[in-house]
Amino acid sequence: MIISFIGSGQVGRTLGDLFAKAGHKVILTNSRGKKSLERTVITLGENVFAGDQSDVRKSDLVVLATPFYAIEELDPSLLEGKIVVDATNYFPDRDGKNDQLISRKTASSRFVSDHFKNARVVKAFNILSVAGLSSLISFEDDSKRKVFPLAGDDVQAKKIVSDLIEQIGFAAYDVGSLDDSLLFQSDSPLFLFSGTLDEWKRRSAS
Ligand SMILES: NC(=O)c1ccc[n+]([C@@H]2O[C@H](COP(=O)([O-])OP(=O)(O)OC[C@H]3O[C@@H](n4cnc5c(N)ncnc54)[C@H](OP(=O)(O)O)[C@@H]3O)[C@@H](O)[C@H]2O)c1
Repeated sequence: MIISFIGSGQVGRTLGDLFAKAGHKVILTNSRGKKSLERTVITLGENVFAGDQSDVRKSDLVVLATPFYAIEELDPSLLEGKIVVDATNYFPDRDGKNDQLISRKTASSRFVSDHFKNARVVKAFNILSVAGLSSLISFEDDSKRKVFPLAGDDVQAKKIVSDLIEQIGFAAYDVGSLDDSLLFQSDSPLFLFSGTLDEWKRRSAS
């Protein structure tokens, strides 16, 4: 697949590197333009390229990896029809007060999906700090892998994102619709959980 990142900081660079190693072509973009990413892509290997919005439009899948406040600055038509992985987290102190989000009446990924109206949004990869991610990778069977939960309304898009999670050495767990992503967004007790699927199920049942 061709996978683009909107936002190429800690998340974009770390996941971009892992997706490239899994055999995908990765395009990194940011707000400052292609040239500002030239050095970054050199350090990330041959499957990673610097790009711009025209590359995003040609991608099979797009990862949102900006601060949450930047979402509304992005042109919704950019992601029309695309599978979009929402890796962002909403933090009121950083991203600004929004009563609907703070009260959990609206899941942060629902807000993202409402902005990118015709995108196929899947929330994933938001739960763990990318700083220690490489030490959690395992290619053993699913029961021994760390879990990455995902949620979304588009079954086919979720299957593609689940495969991506498995390809980089984690176990994918579909928790349900985009509204169900409240379960693992940044204000949830399960945020930052780093265990296996069995441990996740025990923890979420308690
Ligand atoms: N860090 C983690 O461990 C982690 C883990 C999971 C999820 N998250 C979430 O993932 C998101 C990204 O986190 P991060 O730590 O990678 O942040 P970061 O290191 O600060 O990187 C943010 C990136 O977003 C870009 N950006 C900002 N505004 C933009 C815009 N309007 N258009 C295009 N690009 C824009 C920045 O590029 P410019 O500098 O050119 O503006 C930068 O490349 C956040 O929502 C965070 O909460 C973080």
